[in-house]
Amino acid sequence: MVDQEKFPTPDLDLRALRVEYGVDQGDNHPDLDTDLDETWLIDGWEPLLRNWIEDATSAGMIDPNAMVLSTVEITETGPRPSSRTVLCKGLSPEGVTFYTNYESFKGRQLTRTPYASATFVWPAMGRQVTVRGPVHRIPAEATEAYWHSRPRGSRLGAWASEQSRPIASRADLDRRMDETTARFAEVDDIPVPPFWGGFQIRPETVEFWQGRRSRMHNRIRVTVEPGNADVSAMKIERLQP
Ligand SMILES: Cc1cc2nc3c(=O)[nH]c(=O)nc-3n(C[C@H](O)[C@H](O)[C@H](O)COP(=O)(O)O)c2cc1C
Repeated sequence: MVDQEKFPTPDLDLRALRVEYGVDQGDNHPDLDTDLDETWLIDGWEPLLRNWIEDATSAGMIDPNAMVLSTVEITETGPRPSSRTVLCKGLSPEGVTFYTNYESFKGRQLTRTPYASATFVWPAMGRQVTVRGPVHRIPAEATEAYWHSRPRGSRLGAWASEQSRPIASRADLDRRMDETTARFAEVDDIPVPPFWGGFQIRPETVEFWQGRRSRMHNRIRVTVEPGNADVSAMKIERLQP
């Protein structure tokens, strides 16, 4: 029996949830007169992705840099993808950076199969961006520089959690945090855990999606030549929606 007090909306009609993109959605929508086209990509994918994250930030969205990261495991019975959200914490023409526990489920998958797809989605703005490409660990100095910008609580949390491993109870988790807090009580500058750091996705393709009326959306895909940062070497294509 479903607990009616905890879950009071059993009649939600998922089929009726529908948004018409390209028409006024209210305050959170960017300029509707502009129409994404191939010319927006002439300086490469990075300035446009940065601009869309900035737009989502100024529109007041929570975690405008959130992206759903998909990794893949090649098992004896075939490939097994998995997805979860991470925050993009670095953007450059070379790639997209996020931080995590290298021993987590995703960390181990990326070590074995260093290839990922990541999707940013801002539904209120009718926009989506997907980057796909090989992944590598960023240099320890770069992780270190980011680590020092993290609040003390987040640093303690990174040390306390064996991310993705089962734990018997919430009380056990809280105990691990208490032990970690005590361990570093006299330490001002908590060091980077050896099992924690950044990964960078170096996109081979980046696809920008902008919702339009009657599902006639704009999709522009940039294909980057491996190892060639020159924007004149990239291919820009429009895809059918
Ligand atoms: C909005 C949001 C942001 C998140 N950001 C991160 C992040 O930057 N790094 C991270 O390791 N996990 C982040 N998480 C938690 C992950 O989604 C995930 O639960 C965790 O990394 C374990 O994933 P795994 O078991 O597949 O390795 C975030 C979750 C949410 C909902």
